[in-house]
Formats: sequence, structure tokens, C-alpha cells
Amino acid sequence: MKKYWKQFAGWVTGSTDRLFVSARIRLAAFYLFITATILVIFSLILYFSLVQIFKDSFGKEGPDLRDKSDMLVVRTIHDLKVDALELDVIALLVVSGLSYVLAGKTLNPIRKAMEAQKEFSANASHELRTPLAVMKTECEVALKDHDLSPEAIRVISSNLEEVDRMSSMTEDLLKFSRLESEKGEVFSSRVNIADVVASVAKRMNTIAAEKKVILKLGHLDQGTILGNRGYLETMIFNLVRNGINYNKHGGTVEINLVNDGKTMRLTIEDTGIGIGQEDLPHIFERFYKVDKSRTSGGTGVGLSIVEAIIEKHNGSIEVESKLGAGTKVIVYLLVA
Ligand SMILES: Nc1ncnc2c1ncn2[C@@H]1O[C@H](COP(=O)(O)OP(=O)(O)OP(=O)(O)O)[C@@H](O)[C@H]1O
Ligand SMILES: [Mg+2]
Repeated sequence: MKKYWKQFAGWVTGSTDRLFVSARIRLAAFYLFITATILVIFSLILYFSLVQIFKDSFGKEGPDLRDKSDMLVVRTIHDLKVDALELDVIALLVVSGLSYVLAGKTLNPIRKAMEAQKEFSANASHELRTPLAVMKTECEVALKDHDLSPEAIRVISSNLEEVDRMSSMTEDLLKFSRLESEKGEVFSSRVNIADVVASVAKRMNTIAAEKKVILKLGHLDQGTILGNRGYLETMIFNLVRNGINYNKHGGTVEINLVNDGKTMRLTIEDTGIGIGQEDLPHIFERFYKVDKSRTSGGTGVGLSIVEAIIEKHNGSIEVESKLGAGTKVIVYLLVA
């Protein structure tokens, strides 16, 4: 149900700012809930007051149906109840619309601040590219000088490593901003997901062999989803690369794809080092690495890119892991 709701929200918004649309709907529902509660309380007070007036006017015997003034009181009380109910319904309808508009207005400054922040990080990463490329070239040229002392070689090589790390971080940030600014239609091509899995697995065989890890392609159901082939490739690539990188000598990474008619379930399971329970909730955060040492390779952005791509495809992801035993990542995508 949640998946269909997500798909609907994506369709309504063209998959752009789903975060804001769901926040807006939730805020509007909250405003509506408060108004409805106040209305219910007032209506109940009115109802019980009218019941009391009825009792006070006619006592236990009830109204005399032949008496005109009794009938007038009875009709007035009845009309008041019906009017109150009608007013409640009208008020709720008006408030639903107003709540949605008001929620949009409340969230607007936050949306603008976030957009400005995104634009800033996109511009900053873009501007950093050129100086980093220049520094890299200068370091490489300097290292070619045969008269350098061992200390100078050590310093320049270490600088070169840092420049490389900064370059891959800025590239990752750029990838993010590009992904976030993509419009809904970019994610609406018919993609044969089994094809994508097979081609990524083929590409990764060499990397797996270098790391002495066995890459197995298990069950591969055919199936089409609506999405973007390039981004889906990046998503699967990042997940399989993690399975290989955080594995043990002689370990395995197995990929399976199951089509149950409604959902494509992609599982990537490794027999690697696993992730501790205290780290699991954080692995999708940007720049989060379980092993904080700089030698562990990546920049800690791979999984946040994976999550953003899955979100753009209205899918979902789950991770199960046991320290020292391995990790299983499950991705759910809706069949087209
Ligand atoms: N299959 C896995 N097995 C064990 N640990 C994992 C696995 N996948 C992710 N992790 C842990 O989660 C962290 C975040 O993963 P993520 O892919 O986002 O970053 P990364 O691999 O460090 O860098 P990169 O940006 O190059 O992918 C990793 O640093 C690693 O510690
Ligand atoms: Mg990674």
C-alpha cells in the first residue's frame, strides 16, 4: 500500500520534491486534525446543550404534539442540530483546502533555504574541480623531479592522495546535485532490470577477481520497470562494489532478482565483514563510513546515492547485516 502511495505522490509531483509534498500533506492533515477536534468538541457541547434544553422544556412527559409552541421548540432544536452538522461538514471541506495552502506557505521558506543550500554545494563542487585538477597536475609534475629529497617526495605524494580524495568527494557531490535536479520524465523509460543486473555483473567480474571475491549471478527473473537505465546501473554498481570491497578473501557476493508480478526484488548478499547494529542506521548518511580510517578507500557517499536513486524510482531498500558474517541488501522496485 505504502509503495502505491509513494508511486501516486511521485506521479502527482513529477517525482521532483516528494519530500516537500509528503511534508505538506502531513502538515495539512495535522491542521485539519486540530480543526476537526475543535469542531467535534464544539458540536458535542452544542448537542448536549440542546438535549438539556429539550429536557428542561418538556420534562419527562415530552412535548405536546398538538401544542404549537412545543412543536416550534422541537423543530428549532432539530433544525439547529442539522444546521450544526452541515456547518461542520462545510467547515471541514473549507479547512482541508486552506490547510493545504497554509502548509505550503509554512514550508516555502524551508524549501527556498534547502534549494539555496543545494545550489551552493553544486556551485562549490563545480568551482573546486579546476583548482583540484591544477593541484593534481602540479603534484604529478613535481614528483617527476629526480633531485627531490625523500621527505619532499613523501609530502608531495601525501598531498596527491588528499587531492584525489577531495576530487572524488566533489565528483560525488556533483553527482548528487545532478540527481536531485533531474525531472520526473528522466525516470520514466521502460527498463529491463534483468538486463541491467547482468551487464553490471559482467562489468564487475574483473574487480571481483582482483579482490579474490567470487561474484555469483543466481536467479534472474525477467521484468520491466519504469526508470532510468544509467542511474539504475549506478545503484546496482555501488551495491555490488560494497559487497566486493567489504568482503573477505575467497568470499562471495550473490545477486538474485525475483519478479513476484507486482515487485522486482533485487538482493545482493555478501559473506563479508558485515556491519554492526550501531552503524546500520547511519550507513545511508552522506560521508558516513564505518571504518573512519582514511585507508578504507571510498568517500562514504555510495549508499546515499543508492538511496536517492531508489527514491527517484519510488522503490525502497532494506539492509540486514551481521558483524563478521555478511550483509544482505534488498531493493524493491515496482513492475511497470
Ligand atoms: N556490504 C557491506 N558490508 C560491510 N560494510 C558495508 C557494506 N556496504 C556498506 N558498508 C559500510 O557502510 C559504509 C558506507 O557505505 P558507502 O557505500 O556509502 O560508502 P563507501 O563504500 O565507504 O564509499 P563510496 O562512496 O566509494 O561508496 C562503508 O564505509 C562501509 O563501512
Ligand atoms: Mg561504497
